[in-house]
Amino acid sequence: MTASGATSGNGAPPVDQPKKFLLDPYREWAAGEGIPIHLDFGHDLITLETAPWDRYGARGCFAHTYGAGDFMANYVIEVPAGGKTRPVKHLYEAFFYVLVGHGSTTVWLPNGETRSFEWGPKALFAIPLNCQYQIFNNSGFEPVRLSCTNDAPITINLYHNLDFVFDNPFTFPDRTGLSKHFEGDGDHRTYDVTAKTSVRNVWETNFVHDLTSFKLYELEARGKGSLNVSFVLADGTMHAHVSQIPTGRYKKAHRHAAGTHVHAVDGEGYSLLWYEGDSEFKEFPWKHGFMYTPPFWMFHQHFNTCDKPARYLACSLGSRRYPFISLRRKSSEGGGSISVQQGGRQIEYEDQDPRIHRKWLEALKETGVQSQMTDIFDEPRIMALPPEALTGVISTPRSIGPAI
Ligand SMILES: [Fe+2]
Repeated sequence: MTASGATSGNGAPPVDQPKKFLLDPYREWAAGEGIPIHLDFGHDLITLETAPWDRYGARGCFAHTYGAGDFMANYVIEVPAGGKTRPVKHLYEAFFYVLVGHGSTTVWLPNGETRSFEWGPKALFAIPLNCQYQIFNNSGFEPVRLSCTNDAPITINLYHNLDFVFDNPFTFPDRTGLSKHFEGDGDHRTYDVTAKTSVRNVWETNFVHDLTSFKLYELEARGKGSLNVSFVLADGTMHAHVSQIPTGRYKKAHRHAAGTHVHAVDGEGYSLLWYEGDSEFKEFPWKHGFMYTPPFWMFHQHFNTCDKPARYLACSLGSRRYPFISLRRKSSEGGGSISVQQGGRQIEYEDQDPRIHRKWLEALKETGVQSQMTDIFDEPRIMALPPEALTGVISTPRSIGPAI
């Protein structure tokens, strides 16, 4: 039995062993992997320190975040030039986002066939559940680095048996996906939300070549010009979506369950976060390589400050097919883009604190980008507000609920 209480074999723990309490088998597993565990609000995943990781036969580190919640986590894998990982499998779902480098992945399917696909920076792929896989660095001179967002915490904490999670012979052929799903192709689907007043666009695949050029669809409810697509990857319970913010614009604030790992993909900007009742904003600047998780029920808002569209990738538990938890089902039904005053989780532009737009206009002065939001905001008035109008508790519209 390990210190965590996770058994390393199939036998029951010895009866004379003292019982323990308040265990966290996932955290204990991570601590035992022998690689750095970074814990912060968010990280620059490209520069995080890694160390040799025997499990993968490569380098790695855990990129834990305060807002990750109970179900989700992230680790980084780095494969040296010309190197490869060991073949690995596990009973938790895993989405890989390529941070740096060019390589390929081979996946062993339950029927004995293999699928291999090549990728470069800003590709996204999922490993079908419990399939063995191996990651190759195809470059002779630069490392590859990948962000792996996963649901290892819920899986390891639920079963607390590492053999069951990492050496389980059970296969899931129904979750393998079509051959084309490993080739960058997929299936576009839609479903209706909010009394069929709008649709959500979903792309089903296992592998996306390049998130920067992938086709997105209009999602004006989250802010004028917003584009979005959701992914169902490897028929998983984990969710991913990509959103785009036009230049000279930003999204509306909203809040939701914990664990959404937001990766900046393209462009530069920042996010503001605050809890109801706060007087100060938490600010997280981002560009490709930066990842953070908005904590549970904390309002957050994404701002583009650069001269091109900004894209980000968000990975969380509860997919569009399998929302899994009621909070995620509400989001999948459109609650994330309905005003808090109407029972949703969003703050409409007209209801937001004036500091938010003013701060963004000041950031645009630095980058020389023109605001494209003059049709929504009286910008001269906001810039002329006296200091006393820009202090105190951040104004937030009253939430009528029920939001959960
Ligand atoms: Fe969000």
